[in-house]
Amino acid sequence: MKNNIALFILVFIIIYGVNAQQSPNTFIVYGDSGKSTISKNIYGHFTEHLGRCIYGGIWVGKNSLIPNTRGIRNDVLAALKAIRVPVVRWPGGCFADTYHWMDGIGPAEKRPKFVNTTWGGVVEDNSFGTHEFLDFCELLGAEPYLTVNVGSGTIKEARDWVEYVNSDNDSPMANLRRLNGRKEPWNVKFWGIGNETWGCGGNMTPEYYSNVYKQFSTFCLGKFKILSGGTSDDLNWTETIMRATKNHGDLIQGYSYHYYTICHNWEKKGDAVNFNESEWFNTMQKTAFIDGNLDQHAAIMDRYDPEKKIGLIADEWGNWFDPEPGDNPAFLYQQNTLRDAVTAALFLNIFNNHCDRVRMANIAQMVNVLQSVILTKDDKIVLTPTYYVFKMYAAHQGATLLPIKMNSEQYSQGNDKIQAISISASKDNNGKIHISIANLDPMSEKKLSCEVHGISAKKVTGEIITADKMNAYNDFGKPEEVTIKPFSDAQLRNGMLTINLPAKCVVMLELD
Ligand code: AHR
Repeated sequence: MKNNIALFILVFIIIYGVNAQQSPNTFIVYGDSGKSTISKNIYGHFTEHLGRCIYGGIWVGKNSLIPNTRGIRNDVLAALKAIRVPVVRWPGGCFADTYHWMDGIGPAEKRPKFVNTTWGGVVEDNSFGTHEFLDFCELLGAEPYLTVNVGSGTIKEARDWVEYVNSDNDSPMANLRRLNGRKEPWNVKFWGIGNETWGCGGNMTPEYYSNVYKQFSTFCLGKFKILSGGTSDDLNWTETIMRATKNHGDLIQGYSYHYYTICHNWEKKGDAVNFNESEWFNTMQKTAFIDGNLDQHAAIMDRYDPEKKIGLIADEWGNWFDPEPGDNPAFLYQQNTLRDAVTAALFLNIFNNHCDRVRMANIAQMVNVLQSVILTKDDKIVLTPTYYVFKMYAAHQGATLLPIKMNSEQYSQGNDKIQAISISASKDNNGKIHISIANLDPMSEKKLSCEVHGISAKKVTGEIITADKMNAYNDFGKPEEVTIKPFSDAQLRNGMLTINLPAKCVVMLELD
């Protein structure tokens, strides 16, 4: 009996004594065990002829009083260069399946106009077409990603587009390009074969689209062809398409995945700025969902493509809130707060941690639409909290993902719980380690302790994005409320990192 009591006391001391000293948030970064590369293209963008994304956001025309380079805004260009945009998707989205590229080439004054029935019924004058978009990408130093019109276009039209931009032969389309002032081909690598073909791209079944895909892909001679995926919860779409294309490996290099976080439901998505803690929680929880959802889609792909030749291309992602009152609701213009910065960090950490399969991601959208990195009003520009996350996370581009073992406190609302901390880590070519951390809990700070294995770092430096209010944002003509600031609450001693994370923040640490 006495022995039993002594044993009980010993076990009690071991369990509770040890736990009392430990931070509940512990993680291990394995500094020498990285295998997969975080493709720089995970930091890609999406642009569409929607609202003021192209017109007003990127393109103001050569005669505009707003300073521009061949019609492209200089301020937007400079801001985008600073975050090292690697790839840009265009012309849609749903718009792509109504777009006929030949309307957008040749002298601008001769280009036909049409009504953009997909987005707001505004007149599209085609002044921004293939040459202008590819010029924009060249100025930016980014790779273009073109989506061909499957829904209302033809295979010939798609094939001709590839020839027009990529051929160096004495061929009709290459000669037409030369006639329009461009001698060298652009060599566009990424080609999307339709967009959301389950919905706005043609309301197809996966069985039907698999055949359409194979037919288009056979004749479009692009190097890297991307198939339109289903909705995030439609695992049957992924299964059906992977099965139907499994013997046609040369026809498919990418499988597209779209995910939008909405706070409530598609009818009432939630206000972008005026929200309470429960709405903050919903947004975090719905974003965290993609961690398991990507695993589900990747597991299906693994069965048909165990060598992981086909990339998962998350070519539309972000927060989708109710449009700003007073604007055309079809323009999908929304403000961007600290909440968007924290979810952007969560999305990007999840994409990084799935980089063995996720080879590209494109935030929706680049300027003035949904979770933009930039907002413009006439000649003014705002860099959003999401912009600063891209700036901070650029350190992960092309680096090697480091495995992490994580124990995180939970952040709960009512009966719902999510992990309070989100992390990803990488090692760059110079051996520097970057650890990006988000505290999803807007009410309480977190203490973290971290063992860093396999490297002998001497020093840690850091940066932080946070603000006093959950809904702090940057606005035209006002000082910035949300930006990157130095962070010094991380200490490194004997391979052990201790970090005090404020509530609702995104932190990037560099270990050298
Ligand atoms: O990004 C807005 C729209 O969302 C895109 O056009 C479409 O692909 C998606 O449904």
